Amino acid sequence: MCGIVGFVGMQKAAPILLDGLKKLEYRGYDSAGIAVMDQQVISISKVRGRIANLCEKTQDGSLMPGVVGIGHTRWATHGAPTEENAHPHLSNDGRFAVVHNGIIENYISLREELIKDGYHFLSETDTEVIVHLIEMYYRGNMRDALIKTVNRLRGSYAIGVICSEEEGKIYAVREASPLILGIGIGENFFASDVTALVNHTRNVIYLEDGEFAELSAQSIKIFDCSGTEFRKKATRIMWDVQAAEKGGYEHFMLKEIMEQPGAVKATIAPRLRDGKVVFEELEGLAAELPNIRKIVITACGSAYYAGCNGKYALERLSRIPVEVELASELRYSDPLIDEHTLLIVISQSGETADTIAAMRECKSRGAVTLAIVNVVGSSIASLADYTVYTWAGPEIAVATTKGFTTQITVLYMLSLFFADCLKRIDKDEDKFIETLQALPRMIQQAIDMNPSVPLLAKKYHESHALFFIGRNTDYAVALEGALKMKEISYLHAEAYAAGELKHGTIALIEEHQPVIALCCNPSIMEKTLSNIVEVKSRGAEVLALTFRHNQKILSVADDLLFIPDVDALFSGVIEIVPLQLLAYYVAKENGCDIDKPKNLAKSVTVE
Ligand code: AGP
Repeated sequence: MCGIVGFVGMQKAAPILLDGLKKLEYRGYDSAGIAVMDQQVISISKVRGRIANLCEKTQDGSLMPGVVGIGHTRWATHGAPTEENAHPHLSNDGRFAVVHNGIIENYISLREELIKDGYHFLSETDTEVIVHLIEMYYRGNMRDALIKTVNRLRGSYAIGVICSEEEGKIYAVREASPLILGIGIGENFFASDVTALVNHTRNVIYLEDGEFAELSAQSIKIFDCSGTEFRKKATRIMWDVQAAEKGGYEHFMLKEIMEQPGAVKATIAPRLRDGKVVFEELEGLAAELPNIRKIVITACGSAYYAGCNGKYALERLSRIPVEVELASELRYSDPLIDEHTLLIVISQSGETADTIAAMRECKSRGAVTLAIVNVVGSSIASLADYTVYTWAGPEIAVATTKGFTTQITVLYMLSLFFADCLKRIDKDEDKFIETLQALPRMIQQAIDMNPSVPLLAKKYHESHALFFIGRNTDYAVALEGALKMKEISYLHAEAYAAGELKHGTIALIEEHQPVIALCCNPSIMEKTLSNIVEVKSRGAEVLALTFRHNQKILSVADDLLFIPDVDALFSGVIEIVPLQLLAYYVAKENGCDIDKPKNLAKSVTVE
């Protein structure tokens, strides 16, 4: 997905912009560019492909003098990934350059109007209308021109602008697309993502929808759509630079898998007090709970699967019915949602377009909204009535790992919290609190117990298809296990509820077909065992994920992955770990670009 950086200061801008763009590479992109202003002249350099190409073209920025500039990584939406369509876009008179994240929905009519007025378009993008509008409205005052321009735009945007007549300044505006200002000493920045800033400053200001900023080396001025200036509080980012880098691991994904014990602990520890789950951020919700008749969980991708996992604990402990809906479906489904519905929205990035749209739809029908989000200050966090942050830290690899496990952890905690608020306390509550406290240790055990994963990857990496099967809580984990496998290794992988096999899928089982069988739920273990025997008798190679002492499975499976003993209601967060490792090592065997899988973006901010 696209990324933006902007810099104004005393040092050369181009190398700083290039460094910022490198930090944004993880978001997924297909072209990149920078614009730098020197002595009232704007020069632009753009490339198709990687930032490395841009570094080469500009000799690491040395060919572009100037202390003011903007940069962009583009993930094509309107128009092919070409140099012409890459940002920054320049106005016809060369006085303005613009970078943009998001989508301008009314760009076709604006484009026609601007062409009639004599403006020439050099790209197929929706973004280019912005730079021509700014040129059209500029009368010596950038604030006015910007306000008039965004008044004409419909859609989502984070925009960065430089103007050759306003030397020493960069401008930014945000509407439904993230934008953060970085406060330096004698220099200031903006970026679509904190990761691009932490090398330079930890003091940031989150812009909100409808807010504009004018940055110079010495000052940051924020103003609203009437041009009135106001002050905003700065936030100190606690992530350090290393947290946003690989820390010695070959890939971000492996680093993030290994960080899970710490991330889950950071999510649980501050919310456990005197043997109870305490969510200070949910005090208001506790009072609203008696009016809630159902919970609807909505999200996309892995976050949706986190919801599928959490449903079991939520229903069992809080006794509130739970539906889990894909956000891209829910938004168009005319949903039966009212003020008695609690909508739980799950998103690592907090910026997923479908999730935001589903949330708005349900809010308009009266739902009480609770967001489970990792990125502080993100759109979903701002839109929600209540927000619980997962303290996973920055997740750089496109394939989520610690984002997912911390989401499930929050759902486990919510189930205990709701049960407590509603006085539906389970007699086993103490047991669940103990399990919760033990989860970080058990995740570490699940990593340590499976040294054979790289060898298993060598055995299975050439398979044409992998089937993941399981029942109940195991099925919910199988869904995420299969997604991990396909998104990073590009192998066909599907999850099936084991009981469904004989209703059709078993027709696909033939000699040496790999089947990954999840058997970590004792209440339905015998049933899954029968399914394993069924596929084995048709020639399947079975890799079973189970407890070390599970003799029955050990004797039928060809290969094994282990987890420590854990209550099935909370086992998803442990079970997924060996499957993440398996997907990682299979992808490595296949030579895949693990942190940046093809066709995927970290944050899907368009529909
Ligand atoms: C996970 O590995 C994905 N690449 C993807 O499914 C992701 O979970 C989904 O796009 C939702 O993202 P979000 O959590 O940022 O909303």
